Amino acid sequence: MISIRTEREIALLRQANEIVARAHEQVAKMIQPGTCTRDLDKLVEALICDAGAKPAFKGYRGYPASICVSIDDEVVHGIPGKRALRAGEIVSIDIGVCYKGYYGDAAVTHPCGAVDALRMRLLEVTDLALSRAIRVSRVGNCLNDIGCVIEKTSREAGFDVVRSYVGHGIGVEMHEDPQIFNFDSGESGPRLEEGMVLAIEPMVNAGSGQVRVKRDAWTVVTRDGKPSAHFEHTIVVRKHGGEILSWCEVPSWGMREG
Ligand code: CO
Repeated sequence: MISIRTEREIALLRQANEIVARAHEQVAKMIQPGTCTRDLDKLVEALICDAGAKPAFKGYRGYPASICVSIDDEVVHGIPGKRALRAGEIVSIDIGVCYKGYYGDAAVTHPCGAVDALRMRLLEVTDLALSRAIRVSRVGNCLNDIGCVIEKTSREAGFDVVRSYVGHGIGVEMHEDPQIFNFDSGESGPRLEEGMVLAIEPMVNAGSGQVRVKRDAWTVVTRDGKPSAHFEHTIVVRKHGGEILSWCEVPSWGMREG
């Protein structure tokens, strides 16, 4: 069952997602060569706690940190640690919080220093796929319209989407119905209704969309070792398109028009 949120609940979801957004803006400034991924985690955890919220990922199914940091061929769920960022890498930062019982969730992939043309294009296309997905998240469209536009945008650029991880409804749990595929599922799925709150999160690979999980049981990597990008926003379905609750001012988000 897909929940329809009241405006009172949406106001709380907006507060949770504003905490996520402000943390993204701060952590974006630390995406530089030499920064240790654990320091990114510590910064975000402190910001979340200072805002009176809780890091939603920490302890979720035993996940050991407050954020996910996924570098280059890592798709999602990379665990922060001793590893330092290097110039030329792309770095996905995924942040989730719980505030007054309501969840916020968003991810952005950043370039670290100067990156090659393939990686830059991968970021732009994944960002564009999410922007288009948000635009089609309007009353009267179908859930599958989201997956279709993400897959089409990725394929036209010569990239492939990850099929084994999906977006999700979000509200009083981090993961609620529905599952949001990043590809055409072949069925239109439920109609989108005003007040549905969705975390849309395209994961786009430069090579094949095939992935595997590393020995740490969390880190998802591409099978072919080529880079992957991930962008996520929490949105509310509205009449004219998705209203972004996790909007943040970082250089990597909203790079492209269209
Ligand atoms: Co999510």
